[in-house]
Amino acid sequence: MDKNGVLLPEHIAIIMDGNGRWAKKRGLDRTEGHKVGAEVFRKICQYGSDIGIKYMTFYAFSTENWKRSAFEVGKIMDLFRKYLEEMEEREQENEEAGYNIHFIGSREGMPPDIAELMDVVEARSGEKNKVHINIAVNYGGRDEIIHAARQLAEKVRTGELSAEDITEDVFSGNLYTAGQPDPDLIIRPSGEERLSNFLIWQSAYAEFYFSDVLWPDFTKEDLDKAIEEYSRRNRRFGGV
Ligand code: IPE
Ligand code: IPE
Ligand code: MG
Repeated sequence: MDKNGVLLPEHIAIIMDGNGRWAKKRGLDRTEGHKVGAEVFRKICQYGSDIGIKYMTFYAFSTENWKRSAFEVGKIMDLFRKYLEEMEEREQENEEAGYNIHFIGSREGMPPDIAELMDVVEARSGEKNKVHINIAVNYGGRDEIIHAARQLAEKVRTGELSAEDITEDVFSGNLYTAGQPDPDLIIRPSGEERLSNFLIWQSAYAEFYFSDVLWPDFTKEDLDKAIEEYSRRNRRFGGV
């Protein structure tokens, strides 16, 4: 609960969509939308943390997004590199902000210097910190499930586990989000109403909030609106 009696989700996941359309509407290159989108990400991350959200997951780049032009992918990677360098430089501030940053997705296929920076930023952001920020980069829900299945198969092969030991909890514990609660609320701006391969295992009982706002226009008030609507939902989890 927050101070106004609104039920706060413990974990909010956001599909940061609509950057390209935002730029096109202004006669700009799509990549200008990604630049503004990256700023909005920083702002919403801070705001979510200020209002007491404990876990936030942001979908930044999917395993399918490699299909885009080399120019656009390159620009997105440049923005990501810039963000990581900034994170590395501002270690102290992150510590104060209480961020525990975690990257979900496959490191394979990422530019090596970025993968290295991801490791550094992740290793430095302490487990003790109270706000968990997952950034989904080169992330695909199906890819994540295959990755978990392979890990489990290997454990069965070595005798560490038997097939009967594979329960839902054990499976969850082998996903990139191991140890974290499932998202309570998934927000997708931009007018699209689909998951696009985001957290497909973890979203089994998530509440969905769709909005027509394009991500670069997304404000703190939009986040408040989504949380207020969430707070009015009746979650039954199969019960009555
Ligand atoms: C989301 O915005 C950012 C990424 C997928 C990297 P888009 O680039 O998908 O924007 P639209 O959907 O084309 O407007
Ligand atoms: C989903 O958006 C991925 C991210 C926001 C990172 P897309 O723009 O790639 O999704 P589709 O293609 O509209 O399904
Ligand atoms: Mg899109």
